[in-house]
Amino acid sequence: MLTALEAINARRSIREFESELVPADVVQQVVEAAGRAPSSKNTQPWQLILVQGAALERLRADFLAAFDASRPGKPDYRYAPDPLPDAWMARARETGFGIFKHKGIGRDDAEKRRAHDRENFRFFGAPQVFFLGTQKSAHAHGTFLDCGFVLDNLMLALTSLGYGSCPQFSIMVYADLLRQHLPDSADTLFICGLPFGRPKPGSHVNAFQPARLPLADWFKVVE
Ligand SMILES: Cc1cc2nc3c(=O)[nH]c(=O)nc-3n(C[C@H](O)[C@H](O)[C@H](O)COP(=O)(O)O)c2cc1C
Repeated sequence: MLTALEAINARRSIREFESELVPADVVQQVVEAAGRAPSSKNTQPWQLILVQGAALERLRADFLAAFDASRPGKPDYRYAPDPLPDAWMARARETGFGIFKHKGIGRDDAEKRRAHDRENFRFFGAPQVFFLGTQKSAHAHGTFLDCGFVLDNLMLALTSLGYGSCPQFSIMVYADLLRQHLPDSADTLFICGLPFGRPKPGSHVNAFQPARLPLADWFKVVE
């Protein structure tokens, strides 16, 4: 098992998985660790749904059908400012083009780019997916901060135990489909998906990891 610091440094987004299920006792351990997240006033405003087995295959089929039909959809919340500040946009483009280049997809190859996007709606072939949400009828900016800690705990606990995951906002465009598939979710605001499982050994796409900013760009000491 990796230490916390080792897991933080080892984690990367995994976009190709083995098909075998993460055992239930491991899932339990990971979810318990995620629930250790801090939250303002200990409100613990998160909801977490694990989808696997036949339910996941039904969901995957519907998500792929929606994507293939270019079905319109709308996420439950606005993730980022629109437009992005120039510097953020530059990093987003660099990362987007970076993964295309890594996969050998040309900038103008619309078909392969769409196939890349489609992988999201296949949940990258993961055998299990967590869906993180909160209460639709009552939330504010801080609620998302609290839920983010759960997301990070999930990813780091999985990494420390030899598994991998990829947070996904793109698929939240079909939050309405999630509510159709997942029981008792009428008052759930879906934040993101987290496909997870054993990373495919030797996977080329899983080797992609975009660079981080130098500390001097975002960290300063005042004394
Ligand atoms: C909330 C959130 C949503 C994301 N959504 C997607 C997504 O829909 N598809 C995808 O391939 N990656 C997605 N990512 C992964 C980011 O692209 C990735 O974290 C970033 O490029 C840094 O790479 P790393 O995770 O490998 O360190 C998301 C990440 C976060 C935190």
